Amino acid sequence: MSNLQPIRVGILGFGVVGTGLYQVLTENSDSIIQRVGRPVTVKRIADVDWDRSRDVTVPDELKTTDAYEIINDPEINIVAETIGGLEPAMKFVMDAIAAGKSVVTSNKEMIARHGHDILAAAAANSVDVQFEGAVGGVVPIIRTLKESLDADHIYEIMGIVNGTTNYILTEMSREGLDFQVALGQAQQLGYAEADPTDDVEGIDAANKLAILSAIAFGRRVDVDQIYREGISQLLPEDIAYAHRMGYVVKLLAIARRRDDDSVETHVHPVLLSQKHPLASVSGPFNAIFVRGRACDEVMLYGRGAGSLPTGSAVAGDVIDSARNLTKNAAGRVPCVCAGQAEIVPMGEVSSRVYVRMKVKDQPGVMGAISTIFGSQSISIACVMQEDTDGQTADIVWIMHECGEDQLTGALAAIQALPIVEAIPARIRVEG
Ligand SMILES: NC(=O)c1ccc[n+]([C@@H]2O[C@H](COP(=O)([O-])OP(=O)(O)OC[C@H]3O[C@@H](n4cnc5c(N)ncnc54)[C@H](OP(=O)(O)O)[C@@H]3O)[C@@H](O)[C@H]2O)c1
Repeated sequence: MSNLQPIRVGILGFGVVGTGLYQVLTENSDSIIQRVGRPVTVKRIADVDWDRSRDVTVPDELKTTDAYEIINDPEINIVAETIGGLEPAMKFVMDAIAAGKSVVTSNKEMIARHGHDILAAAAANSVDVQFEGAVGGVVPIIRTLKESLDADHIYEIMGIVNGTTNYILTEMSREGLDFQVALGQAQQLGYAEADPTDDVEGIDAANKLAILSAIAFGRRVDVDQIYREGISQLLPEDIAYAHRMGYVVKLLAIARRRDDDSVETHVHPVLLSQKHPLASVSGPFNAIFVRGRACDEVMLYGRGAGSLPTGSAVAGDVIDSARNLTKNAAGRVPCVCAGQAEIVPMGEVSSRVYVRMKVKDQPGVMGAISTIFGSQSISIACVMQEDTDGQTADIVWIMHECGEDQLTGALAAIQALPIVEAIPARIRVEG
């Protein structure tokens, strides 16, 4: 047993992640002593509501409703912020840093929007700020990018970083469900919030992509510049067509660094080749696929949310900070960003694309549409026509790589043809 004083931790917010963190730190306390060389103990927990029932029992002397009993406690070395949202979490974190404490957090929104200011404050105060739990739950992507792959030139990240949407898409695909039915099922199982907007509209994934691309490419990414489309407009028939053509439909967060260092960042549904490693990631799981010059391809997989998985990631940060404090090395891994990324406008991004049209079932339709694609220099990789009711037919196209603006122009001209009733789907293709 070590003679060193324990490292004392204060937890702000005792909900899903806070309780998981407490459980991991208390249940594994013996092995943690062995690994850190001294005890790491939870001294205080702040939450605004102690009447709510939780799966975890906590001694009364640990409980407070006042975050500042933790932030101002000179004995507490590490503050874990697991409240979420921008305020008061941001103020608590900045005040904890100013009070000389290392901070760990699972708050993606706060890090995506204010990570730079928080890390600058941490550097000025020689403390750590770590946020592994903010992206991908237990998936250890932040430390992998910041440390293991730090010497490499990373040029692409593709991630399934939202378990709610991945669960919904998996069920739509397996059972042929409508979006609303699959969402209701996800809500019943606790995989989706009562207000699912942040998840299903890709807002949560965009926050995570801002964090990942900033670390991977060394440039800050403004989350409001990330192009975003959610999954609420996806139709089961497109998922079925995709399946027949050798694809699965996933919500992907994609970031690519171009040779001139500008960055593409977009979150949207994708037809992903069934052969791609991310295609087999189903249900609420997350995975992040990274390409770099030296590493080639790396993929990390795990539970993207949940009390113990996310608690484990946050506890890992606590242990790392505790080690750094023990060796007087707090602030060992600084902010890696130099300046703001130049974001490529979505109109200038190119990809292969799946398009489905409802057209009048009559001669000459295919020719008229192909002529418009040809006039815009868009080349067709694959086309499939299916009769629907004798009057109208579905035509499904997969285009070779073409620019977003180029395709938008062609589809506007096609939509104006009297033989075209609707263009219900336009989905980018990867893999
Ligand atoms: N849930 C996951 O699986 C997961 C996974 C990865 C990352 N995250 C992130 O982790 C963070 C926490 O998420 P969560 O799901 O654990 O949220 P949660 O279950 O709502 O827990 C937050 C807790 O903080 C309490 N709280 C609110 N204001 C407070 C204050 N001023 N002082 C002290 N406590 C306060 C809340 O109490 P009331 O409920 O009474 O307001 C609640 O008990 C978020 O940033 C989230 O995005 C969550």
